[in-house]
Amino acid sequence: MVIEIVDFDDAYRDHRNAVVSLHYSAWGGLDDLTAALRARRAGFPFAPYLGVYAREDEALLSAAFVSHYPLTTPQGPETAAGIELLMTRPDATRRGLAGQLLQEVHRRERSAGRRISLLCTGRSNLAHELYLKLGYQDIFCPRAALRYIDRPRSRSSPAIRVRRAGTRDAPALARVHRRANAGALGFTRRESRSFRTRFLSGAVAVRNLLLAERQGRPAGYATLEPHSSWSRAAEVIAPTSEVRGALMAALERRSVGRWLAFGGDWFSGDDDPERIRCTPLLPSYAVMMACPLVPELRRRNLHRWLRSGGRPFACQLLDMF
Ligand SMILES: CC(C)(COP(=O)(O)OP(=O)(O)OC[C@H]1O[C@@H](n2cnc3c(N)ncnc32)[C@H](O)[C@@H]1OP(=O)(O)O)[C@@H](O)C(=O)NCCC(=O)NCCS
Repeated sequence: MVIEIVDFDDAYRDHRNAVVSLHYSAWGGLDDLTAALRARRAGFPFAPYLGVYAREDEALLSAAFVSHYPLTTPQGPETAAGIELLMTRPDATRRGLAGQLLQEVHRRERSAGRRISLLCTGRSNLAHELYLKLGYQDIFCPRAALRYIDRPRSRSSPAIRVRRAGTRDAPALARVHRRANAGALGFTRRESRSFRTRFLSGAVAVRNLLLAERQGRPAGYATLEPHSSWSRAAEVIAPTSEVRGALMAALERRSVGRWLAFGGDWFSGDDDPERIRCTPLLPSYAVMMACPLVPELRRRNLHRWLRSGGRPFACQLLDMF
């Protein structure tokens, strides 16, 4: 039978049951679909077509969603395509459907002026092989460090106040993030809209964000997801040691009797006193990949290119979409 590629809205209007059962069979639930629809209503920067589906007769067999992310490369700011929720119905795999959808997305995004396509996966995910075949390269692998918190040890400066953030703090969070990443390459320009839609889509619960203020002015922030035997502070933006100490004290107070896991990219070097008290930084299985969509980028090693000129590659938890 003939495979046709259709946009999300057409598929959702004409084959809603098939859309819902495809998401259910790929991910074991429907939270992904609900979150994407809620985020689109809130203005999340999805591609205008939101996603593409491979249709065979009345059946939807494969899907991919597409967003747009601001990215800073050595050639300046640009917008990259970001692919997520790639899925094929389990009884239709190995027929080249996911590959066809990705190529269709690349074609659409290239003709809309995008030069780079990004996605996140696991290094041991079967899809990693597919992405390599299509020209994707590994560009970023988040690292983590852990510390068991028997009692709070960090000292908080009286000049810094740490409080829970609210949705109204989204512009302040975006400013802190932008200042801390000035001069870097990668995800340096997160918009306040992006924080707000992430809260609304449920990707980050706003109650899990701690904001550090100096004289009432936002100076840094940390995410904290509490689990029963551990917590995770995957994104900590703490530009000075004073802010770092205050956020660390707040994170420790909330994690006593548990392991506290950190994303690796907030410490100011390997001899940072906070860093030394943790386990060594460990790479994770998660990986961000990038595919050049235009000939002038095809010969580049994108990992090296996105760190050229001695500039670090900025990529935090909320950027691992
Ligand atoms: C990963 C997934 C999207 C692949 O869909 P697909 O339509 O089968 O992919 P394609 O047929 O286009 O590509 C197949 C290629 O992917 C790799 N691959 C996919 N499934 C594989 C498997 N079971 N074993 C080994 N390689 C596999 C191979 O490189 C394969 O090429 P080959 O068939 O020539 O050997 C599908 O298995 C899926 O939905 N998985 C669950 C959701 C998921 O993990 N999505 C990816 C999130 S990053």
